[in-house]
Amino acid sequence: MHRLLVVVLALNILILEVTASSSYDEQRFDWDVQNIRRLVKCRNKHYKSTKEFYYNYWVLKNYIKAEHGPLSCYSNVTYTTHADYRYLDNLVPLLERWRSPLSLALYAPGDDFQPTLDSILWLRQCHPSSHLVRELTSVHFYFNVEHLPQVVPMAKVALQRQLNCSAPSPYENVKKEQLYRTQEKLDYPVNIGRNLARAASLTHFVLASDIELYPTPGLVPNFLNFFSRKVVGRHVNIPLSPMVYVLRIFEVRANETMPKTKPELQKMLRSGGAVLFHENICAECHQGPKLEEWINEPVASQDLNVFNVGYRLEPHELWEPIFIGTVDDPPYDERLSWEGRRDKMTQAYAMCVLGYEFHILDNAFLVHKPGIKEAYLPIGRVIQSHRTDSLISREIFRELRFMYGSRKGCII
Ligand SMILES: *[C@@H]1O[C@H](CO)[C@@H](O)[C@H](O)[C@H]1NC(C)=O
Ligand SMILES: *[C@@H]1O[C@H](CO)[C@@H](O)[C@H](O)[C@H]1NC(C)=O
Ligand SMILES: *[C@@H]1O[C@H](CO)[C@@H](O)[C@H](O)[C@H]1NC(C)=O
Repeated sequence: MHRLLVVVLALNILILEVTASSSYDEQRFDWDVQNIRRLVKCRNKHYKSTKEFYYNYWVLKNYIKAEHGPLSCYSNVTYTTHADYRYLDNLVPLLERWRSPLSLALYAPGDDFQPTLDSILWLRQCHPSSHLVRELTSVHFYFNVEHLPQVVPMAKVALQRQLNCSAPSPYENVKKEQLYRTQEKLDYPVNIGRNLARAASLTHFVLASDIELYPTPGLVPNFLNFFSRKVVGRHVNIPLSPMVYVLRIFEVRANETMPKTKPELQKMLRSGGAVLFHENICAECHQGPKLEEWINEPVASQDLNVFNVGYRLEPHELWEPIFIGTVDDPPYDERLSWEGRRDKMTQAYAMCVLGYEFHILDNAFLVHKPGIKEAYLPIGRVIQSHRTDSLISREIFRELRFMYGSRKGCII
């Protein structure tokens, strides 16, 4: 009986390999996905629009749904992110590289709502690559209850309105001072957006990122193949320690094109066309262990592998990695705002205590939208970041220790 099963399995593999040349991708992909399904015990979600009241915010989850429709939770990866409408010029270049589901939370209080909605409509109707936006992007809106928009139409009605596509896109050349939220002195509730976008993901795996960070093309199929080959095999019947898959981050000069592969990146790092992300602002926040070795390692194959494993312990206690994780990773602290900075630190602390391993991928990375940022922090943000520091040390740290416990070397 057993032998028969083995023969059948072997035949199956043989068939897979024989047909591989014709429809290689699909066959291999099905195999990977079934493999992953056995390890990742996730449940498919209903894909529906909801209105929720959340702390002091109204949340319109899946206000605009992607045309891909419902997805099986283990067979894809969702890029989850947040923005105000000034950043929507990033959406298409990001999708051109990502080509997989994207969950986008937009903060749109008061009079910011209409131009935000118009920007999304413009991208869906007028952009030359509008099909990518319609197919892949789920859009959520949130705003403070004290700062409601004038009108919030039903999504169906909103989507029917035809924009004038000869007019410029509504998100172009908008200054921060023009925003309703700037005039009303509202902070940007970054972590509400991050948690919302992640909670709305239909897939178990997520890349929670900032909208200006573009991944290497082909990352999702490569990641799923890597996970099936390298992770599932290792963990049959062994309990998993929590793990996430880190992408290193780089910046390129404004006049350069973005590297698509690691050899291209290596060439640009040597010529000075590319540098480490935020090298001028907070190098320790992005370095992580063995950066030099990672940069200098020759690329032997197209496949993804883990280059090295890091922990968020000294001397890397300031590391703020961006990674492919899951919807079950610790949430972001919603009291922390963008203006206050250190907005990812509490999540990093929780992950440290929980013993998360940060597996750094070798052949994939993120590139910031071209243009290298200089060190500059407006005085308002300095004051607010002191306020955040004291909130973290007074209250949040105590709560985190209560919730997650402590561990030697984990600091905030
Ligand atoms: C559409 O926008 C263009 C450019 O702003 C403008 O010239 C044209 O009159 C607009 N058309 C309509 C029907 O509003
Ligand atoms: C993920 O979903 C998108 C949208 O349906 C699809 O185009 C893409 O091929 C999927 N990726 C994989 C690896 O199946
Ligand atoms: C970009 O500008 C830098 C400095 O101004 C120059 O050295 C470099 O060659 C330029 N790169 C390209 C691709 O034009």
